[in-house]
Amino acid sequence: MKPFYLTTAIDYANGSPHLGHAYEKVLADVVARVQRLRGHPVHFLTGLDEHGTKVQQSAKARGIEPQALCDTVAGEFQALCRTLHISNDDFVRTTEPRHQKVVRAILQKLHDQGDLYLGEYRGFYSARQEQFLLEKDKVNGEWPEIFGEVVEVVEPNYFFPLEKHRAWLSDFLRDNPEWIFPSFRQKQVVEFLKEPLNDLCISRPRERLAWGIPLPFDEKYVTYVWFDALVNYVSAIGYGTPEFGEKWPADAHVIGKDILVPPHAVYWPIMLKALGLPLPRKLLVHGWWFSGGKKESKTDIEKAKAAGVKIENPLDFISTHGADPFRYFLLREMVVGQDADFSATQFTARYNSELADDLGNCVARLLNMVSRYSGGKVPAATVDEDPERTLRAEWEKFAPEIYPLCEGFQFHALLEKLNGFVKSINRYLDVRSPWKLAKSADPADQARVATSLALLAESVRLAAATLAPVMPDTSAKILALLSQPPVEKWDGQLVWGARLAGASLGEKVILFPKIEAEKKA
Ligand code: MSP
Repeated sequence: MKPFYLTTAIDYANGSPHLGHAYEKVLADVVARVQRLRGHPVHFLTGLDEHGTKVQQSAKARGIEPQALCDTVAGEFQALCRTLHISNDDFVRTTEPRHQKVVRAILQKLHDQGDLYLGEYRGFYSARQEQFLLEKDKVNGEWPEIFGEVVEVVEPNYFFPLEKHRAWLSDFLRDNPEWIFPSFRQKQVVEFLKEPLNDLCISRPRERLAWGIPLPFDEKYVTYVWFDALVNYVSAIGYGTPEFGEKWPADAHVIGKDILVPPHAVYWPIMLKALGLPLPRKLLVHGWWFSGGKKESKTDIEKAKAAGVKIENPLDFISTHGADPFRYFLLREMVVGQDADFSATQFTARYNSELADDLGNCVARLLNMVSRYSGGKVPAATVDEDPERTLRAEWEKFAPEIYPLCEGFQFHALLEKLNGFVKSINRYLDVRSPWKLAKSADPADQARVATSLALLAESVRLAAATLAPVMPDTSAKILALLSQPPVEKWDGQLVWGARLAGASLGEKVILFPKIEAEKKA
């Protein structure tokens, strides 16, 4: 069976990971985990984009070799994946021989086919910054001071013609209206394709950019940016070997909105077409995280720190409050495809109410009451009255929505509805008040106490199973408290039942210690 092949963008190696990188990995991880829970084998790839001007410059600024910088940064990104429980099967680095080999093979093939030509690249070049500039780099129509002297340069470079594929790509988008999620992004691509496409410059002279993969047919040049980076999706799964066909095409590329048009929605499909390969089945495009209205970026955080300004780094929330609450917040707060703002206030509000007061409290009440009223073992349910029927109806309403919400990438709504269900468990307990009924000598009341504990346990089990893709550790922890193994497949697990009768429960724990509001000075 072909695995569900899932990729993320590969991050630039010129700096440390930030919130945007973390989110993309968590989002892709949740998609991967949902697939596995649905019983599909998954191959999940992420990685690092290690070549290019910025990496070369950053290394120079630090007085180290580019490879040494990449090794350090790769270590940081890999550590982030582990900390965040990212279940990637592979991590590709573009300086690895397996990648470089494929980039060269692909360039050679396109060259042999006559798909590449040597032409003239014309652009404005800043010698001080060692980079070509774009119109958008101008401020009030002038090149800013930081670029030093800017001169117009004409130099020979290799090009990949795109225009001849434009009609084909437009037709493909028309015939596959759901290729890009969300659909308004697909409309942007369709608009973009209404204008003729410029040929893509794919090289830089090696004398200016040494840190790249040399063109196999002209070693005086290295390949530039997209012909290196995009190829990771096929190099990592062994392009050119028989195993390649077992995984390609990718089932989804998860990327941010800034690299959709033109790289992933125009260059990549055209490159694949020229190579005779099928296109990925979906592009899943997320929005941007902002922090106080500014795009989240590591450079800003580093600059602020250097200037002595206290600015919170959202990634610090992982060490202070745990990976799972961080994952929960990212998925709960951002509607996939739209932008969102990260603030400590909002994180604290969601954490304290939805995790500490709702879910954490439910679990604490369960462990507490089963220990107090039932000797630590889940009793059997024998009563079926209005409160029981209401709680069960809440689950029966939510359960059929779980798969469609996941398939539609509506993870914020999944978590919102799950929180609604957890709130209804707490409501049920308040209605039943087993702590009051326990004092009654009436056997019917004792049966109600036992039943309420049984339903509480079953509801907590269902909530924990639903939470598995987003909070895998917490889900497993709660299930372990119920003497249950972690959920590996959802099949049969999201069904209301009585499997916990007789199960011994674990010791009392506080899953989510409340975050105290910062004391005002
Ligand atoms: N190296 C290229 C991608 C090559 S893919 C073949 C690149 N790297 S990046 O480090 O700049 O960005 C990596 C991913 O992080 C992109 O998908 C980008 O959209 C995402 N994010 C970077 N900053 C972001 C936010 N502030 N918010 C959300 N995601 C953003 O582009």
